[in-house]
Amino acid sequence: MSKGAEQQTDYKALRELGVKHVTKGVGRITEGIMVKGEGSYVRYDDGRHMLDFTCGIGVTNLGHANERVSRAAADQCLELVHAQCSIALNEPYLRLIERLLPVMPHASLDSFFFWNSGSEAVEAAIKMARTLTGRQNVICMQGAYHGRTYGAMALTTSKTIYFQGTGPLMPGVFTTPFPFWHHFNVAPTTSPEVLTEQCLAQLDLLLAQQTAPRDTAAIIVEPVIGEGGYVPAPPAFLQGLRDVCDKHGMLLIVDEVQSGFGRASSAPGRLFAIEESGVRPDILLLAKGLGNGFPISAVVSWRGLTDRLKPGSMGGTYAGNAVSCAAAAKVLEVFKEDNILDNVAARSNQLVNYLNSLKQDPALAPYILDVRGSGLMIGVEFATPTSSFKNDVAIVPGAPPNMASRVAKKCIDKGMLILTTSVYEVIRFIPPLNVSEADLKKGCEIFAEAVREVVKQG
Ligand SMILES: Cc1ncc(COP(=O)(O)O)c(C=O)c1O
Repeated sequence: MSKGAEQQTDYKALRELGVKHVTKGVGRITEGIMVKGEGSYVRYDDGRHMLDFTCGIGVTNLGHANERVSRAAADQCLELVHAQCSIALNEPYLRLIERLLPVMPHASLDSFFFWNSGSEAVEAAIKMARTLTGRQNVICMQGAYHGRTYGAMALTTSKTIYFQGTGPLMPGVFTTPFPFWHHFNVAPTTSPEVLTEQCLAQLDLLLAQQTAPRDTAAIIVEPVIGEGGYVPAPPAFLQGLRDVCDKHGMLLIVDEVQSGFGRASSAPGRLFAIEESGVRPDILLLAKGLGNGFPISAVVSWRGLTDRLKPGSMGGTYAGNAVSCAAAAKVLEVFKEDNILDNVAARSNQLVNYLNSLKQDPALAPYILDVRGSGLMIGVEFATPTSSFKNDVAIVPGAPPNMASRVAKKCIDKGMLILTTSVYEVIRFIPPLNVSEADLKKGCEIFAEAVREVVKQG
């Protein structure tokens, strides 16, 4: 039997093992086993070679198995894998801080705590906010996603699937609208000024009616809401949140787990989405792209605040793992060496122009409601023929049903991984930040073909 045939047999058995023994609680958009990642592509056990516009949900921003990042991790593996942050500092941990300090979106951000996942970073931020303000309540945005652990889940309002049947959740959470036209059921063309005004008025009302400022520890916000529909916050909204926090002594927690590290860069030189607004976060949360696939998250704050934390109150067995820190330090080096943010700006223009040209195509125009986003965090929202939301502004009679999931499925069948997002009909583009012009064009063409086929089928 040839080696290839042997492997085929092994993979078949492994697939069956996976189907039987991996918890049904995990959903997947493709079948089979991913066996190799190469830049913008992944390969499956059955030979499928797929263009990956998911980046493992916004993680492998410098491409799969980026050689310099993987080599840095491999080298660190042979030096020191696990130091444990409560036992001793480790060099990659400190090198990472050294590289992060000059690129932080605000010079005040000078105190770091590393953990493994975005959810853990959110947990740490809630704990810090409650401890440091002596207040309990936290305000989150409608449509937010902050993770699947209990505190993070309580702050998640993008879909009920993440928490239904699991209550009671962490108490003291209040939700306020995000400047997304859906939240007011108004046209996608509604101006950011109007949406911002409405949202800030609702926030004031929330503070007057439901959670008094003296009981409110923090406001948490994603500068580009991810699982809620890929919607950037207008800078004036973020500035308004900062003002409210300053006025009432609350902390502003900015969750850039998905939008950070160039993903939602609004201009060359901007590594973080919050930079466009000039707003200073009290606590900045990072993960995903930080390690390009190695598990690491960061909770960044300012020393005046964190110097008040009791030693031992923060920690975790794997917090700030040396291998993940070495990989993350290299990520920042690659960003510089390869001028990644310039590519984000160029490819973002290419993608948005292409999607807008589809939106103007008379055959598709009625069914493409919105093209939005920032950098290479771009969403396309389709119309829907019916909706469970009363008088939904997204209803267009005659539109094909379930467009987002049908388009995504067709893209996958045609060789491109792509995801939907939110409770609306939204496809999200999360290509690698170093994707080539040719691969981006290829992805756009696959998407267009899929949209045309779905529209034709009705
Ligand atoms: C904005 C945001 N915050 C937090 C999280 C949770 O991160 P993790 O899945 O690493 O726990 C995510 C994950 O998608 C996210 O997008």
